[in-house]
Amino acid sequence: MTDTTERTPLLKVEHLSKEFPAEAGMFAKRFSKRVVSAVNDISFEIYPGETFGLVGESGCGKSTTGRSIMRLTKPTAGKVFFEGRDISEMNKHELKDMRREMQFIFQDPYASLNPRMTIGEIVSEPMTIHNVGTKEERMETVRELLDVVGLNPEHINRYPHEFSGGQRQRVGIARAFALKPKLIICDEPVSALDVSIQAQVLNLLKDLQDKFGTAYLFIAHDLSVVQHISDRVGVMYLGKLVELSDWKTLYTEPHHPYTQSLLSAVPVPDPDIQRTRKRIILAGDPPSPLDPPSGCRFHTRCPMASERCSQDQPSFNEVAPGHFCACHYAEPFPIKESHIDL
Ligand SMILES: Nc1ncnc2c1ncn2[C@@H]1O[C@H](COP(=O)(O)OP(=O)(O)O)[C@@H](O)[C@H]1O
Ligand code: SF4
Ligand SMILES: [Mg+2]
Repeated sequence: MTDTTERTPLLKVEHLSKEFPAEAGMFAKRFSKRVVSAVNDISFEIYPGETFGLVGESGCGKSTTGRSIMRLTKPTAGKVFFEGRDISEMNKHELKDMRREMQFIFQDPYASLNPRMTIGEIVSEPMTIHNVGTKEERMETVRELLDVVGLNPEHINRYPHEFSGGQRQRVGIARAFALKPKLIICDEPVSALDVSIQAQVLNLLKDLQDKFGTAYLFIAHDLSVVQHISDRVGVMYLGKLVELSDWKTLYTEPHHPYTQSLLSAVPVPDPDIQRTRKRIILAGDPPSPLDPPSGCRFHTRCPMASERCSQDQPSFNEVAPGHFCACHYAEPFPIKESHIDL
């Protein structure tokens, strides 16, 4: 487990918010100043070599968080520091250097690889952009990378359509590792893959992390995926970070009612426990980020909500060392350790 007490963070996200203008015509308010509050005042840190899992339902702002960190989209407020440097103050040249150290693996291995480029061109592209080595040296590195990710280096001149979904994701992974970055943002890298392939790709990511010491921001909509890979986990709901802790604490003693409901939906291998345990079913669908609820954004679905929750926004308090929770009534909800793989 990563000891976060004495280490300097690789990445520091401070009070990050991102709002998008509501589309013209939406709700017939062409000149409306309404905004989609996709990410709202979130803060967290990622330490060298660790995996930080970011979890929450579709639309809660995970990809926007990842894209804001990479500066693929400009945050509305807040700051992102990479190795102590504020990325909003970097000029183009500095941003390009920083991007060498920060790569992205996308959810959809079908859409994210250019169909007209060979595997060799795709994997070597980051090295070409950053002028690393000669063409021969780059191709040699590509062969090594293909081998490391479990693909046949002789297939370097093939095109993406000649590969299966799992193999294409391996190509995407090889490309992300081409420059040996310090951080890779993995945005739901196994969600589009068959369940049978998911574990193989997760194991590959873990092996590569051990080999290269890379840190991951690992985005998923399902706690069961991040459980096997994360050192620490942050849970998002409607643009807010609602709970953050080391993964063992989060899985065994979740404090936030939303985390508790997500955990209660994770299948348990033991049929006796599965039959008898309490399932927390949330009422309704998540509200729209165009019009987020007042007070605690979760209050419209929270089984523990009180009058206060619709008025006062809970702050993100440290309930135990390294364990943060945004709930007025945060309490541990002990889940039997046998429920999870420790
Ligand atoms: N470019 C954009 N323009 C307008 N709204 C956006 C844009 N990107 C994302 N959103 C909205 O922001 C919210 C969060 O989206 P996203 O970060 O993609 O969530 P997630 O990755 O958790 O599914 C959603 O309501 C989405 O519709
Ligand atoms: S603050 Fe209130 S509504 Fe929000 S999670 Fe806690 S109990 Fe539920
Ligand atoms: Mg997403």
